Amino acid sequence: MPETKNLKSIAEIYKSDKIEHQYIKVYESYFEKIRDEKLKILEIGIADGKSLLTWSDYFKNSVIVGIDIHKINIVEKKLNRNNIEVHQGSQSDQTFIQKIISKYKEFDIIIDDGSHLSKDVKKSFNLLFSTLKDDGLYIVEDIQTSYNHFFGGNPFDLKYSNSHMNFFKHLTDSLNHQEVANPFYIKKKYDGKITNISFYHNMVFVRKGINDLKSKEVINNSYEDMKYLEKSSRTGKKFQYFVKYKIFYKAYTIFLFVFNTIKKILLLRI
Ligand SMILES: C[S@@+](CC[C@H](N)C(=O)[O-])C[C@H]1O[C@@H](n2cnc3c(N)ncnc32)[C@H](O)[C@@H]1O
Repeated sequence: MPETKNLKSIAEIYKSDKIEHQYIKVYESYFEKIRDEKLKILEIGIADGKSLLTWSDYFKNSVIVGIDIHKINIVEKKLNRNNIEVHQGSQSDQTFIQKIISKYKEFDIIIDDGSHLSKDVKKSFNLLFSTLKDDGLYIVEDIQTSYNHFFGGNPFDLKYSNSHMNFFKHLTDSLNHQEVANPFYIKKKYDGKITNISFYHNMVFVRKGINDLKSKEVINNSYEDMKYLEKSSRTGKKFQYFVKYKIFYKAYTIFLFVFNTIKKILLLRI
């Protein structure tokens, strides 16, 4: 039986720069278990096709779809294989991405190794996340460009800039959306749709999945409502706990909400 090569050995054959970026080890830890499955994999950014060729060998039973803003000569780059499909278009062109979505319907893995511009990375994620299957992975490489103003990142305001790193950092709150003790909380687009976000050096992995576990602390994002329900039904003292939780605690929560809203407006964070 021929020896099955690991991802690093295959990447070495094609001289993929995912080795020197130290991405291969991380990729292998996710992909080893699923390499024989029939997957649909999309990579944004083809260049010389080194990663498409690597995935093509590694995921023998899968379809590897590559998109690139530039025309790719598939014969010259030796990408004319049965399990590779290449399309020309921009990752931030909604019409083009819609065509990709109509053709492939859904993906198991999406890798963004395209322009690495903050606006493109965020736009592609917003356009493509819905096409990921449950348990699917959305991976963004080279997120160090978030710290570089020449890529639309911001090295001067790491916490509050519109960089894609901050976009993914904020996404971690969607993991715990049920726990936010703010009765005025407005549900965000990805709340309940993500089960894991893992950051590595210069890359991030987002796992799609249903995340709707009920909170033990709050009901409908309200701690005081939860406490009132819990205590009044356990003791029968409805009036006492109504005054405590629905009036005093609620007033305190509303005060903090107003205070923080004014603070955010003054700091232009709204
Ligand atoms: C880093 S290279 C891709 C390398 C390839 N994934 C690999 O590992 O071998 C980036 C590629 O993204 C493409 N690109 C740049 N802007 C893009 C955009 N807006 N949409 C799609 N592709 C883009 C470039 O043409 C370039 O080929």
